[in-house]
Amino acid sequence: MAQLDYLVTGATGQLGRAVVALAKQRAASVLGFSGKDLPLDSRARIQQVLLEHRPKNVIHCAAVTNVDGCEGDPLLAYRVNGLGTAWLAEAAAAIAGKLVYVSTDFVFDGTKQGVPYEVDARVSPLSVYGASKRLGEEAVLSYDRAKNYVVRTSWVFGPGGKNFPRAIIDRARSGQPLKVVTDQIGRPCMTFDLAEALLDLCELAPSPGIYHAANEGQCSWHQFAVDVLRLAGLSNISVGTQLAVELKRAAARPAWSVLDTARLTAARGKPLPHYVDAIQRYLQLESQITKDPAAAIAAAGLRGKEYRS
Ligand SMILES: NC(=O)c1ccc[n+]([C@@H]2O[C@H](COP(=O)([O-])OP(=O)(O)OC[C@H]3O[C@@H](n4cnc5c(N)ncnc54)[C@H](OP(=O)(O)O)[C@@H]3O)[C@@H](O)[C@H]2O)c1
Repeated sequence: MAQLDYLVTGATGQLGRAVVALAKQRAASVLGFSGKDLPLDSRARIQQVLLEHRPKNVIHCAAVTNVDGCEGDPLLAYRVNGLGTAWLAEAAAAIAGKLVYVSTDFVFDGTKQGVPYEVDARVSPLSVYGASKRLGEEAVLSYDRAKNYVVRTSWVFGPGGKNFPRAIIDRARSGQPLKVVTDQIGRPCMTFDLAEALLDLCELAPSPGIYHAANEGQCSWHQFAVDVLRLAGLSNISVGTQLAVELKRAAARPAWSVLDTARLTAARGKPLPHYVDAIQRYLQLESQITKDPAAAIAAAGLRGKEYRS
């Protein structure tokens, strides 16, 4: 029997769904796992699943992603994002599989104002979430430095997910006033664009290690909201401004987390599309995906004809 190409963790999440869909479009064999079917707090279950399926590549999208929630439950964050990732790396190494771990810009503290973060920039997480994801990075690189990838991304949004553009559009349509942060700058990343990059890394097999992945361009959350509303035909809605400190969130976030994606661009021979283009395709997918998913993917300029997850 042919070896499984991809095993995807977090396949019920916004990124995992896109990875499974695009792997299928590439005619690869892929199995996606929910948190229930592959709980990261169970070393025994992780070992069992990987031994049973023996995938060539594990694309690890699962994580506790509630950044503020992690401050209130650090044990859960460290257990799932740190230890769970270590157990996955251990199990992947045991079957000689490649592990691609999706990490975050929140491993940085934002003090490199004006200069994009290169892959080897000093890490210094400001939050429990960021620190727990950094633990996962260390495990992935220490288990198989010769094979594994850590792919840091930022401001992820995609069809069917709970994300910033969705929240902004919902709030605008409900008639509630909108105020968005101006003093945090980063790079949005659409799930389908990121999924293409993750699959490319597996197929092209450039040097292992850390890569940064995000759509081209950079913006504040405020500018991101303005762009989303304009492209959604809601430019009549005004977006007020506020400072991050006014939100009084449990977790601190970097004020500047622009990722330098040059290494990934060189490996793939092309950058990810601009974030404005990504918002356009996201809106198309969001509006059509429930009606005719395959047509929605084709209309959005994504490859292939099949969409199942
Ligand atoms: N969202 C962002 O802005 C952002 C930014 C940078 C990096 N990232 C990283 O990108 C990756 C994907 O994020 P996303 O936005 O797709 O997340 P998401 O939509 O919140 O999905 C999270 C996934 O993780 C699974 N999961 C949660 N706890 C688990 C556990 N204990 N055991 C096993 N699976 C568990 C969930 O499964 P169930 O729901 O089935 O339990 C779900 O499939 C994550 O690694 C995240 O850290 C995200």
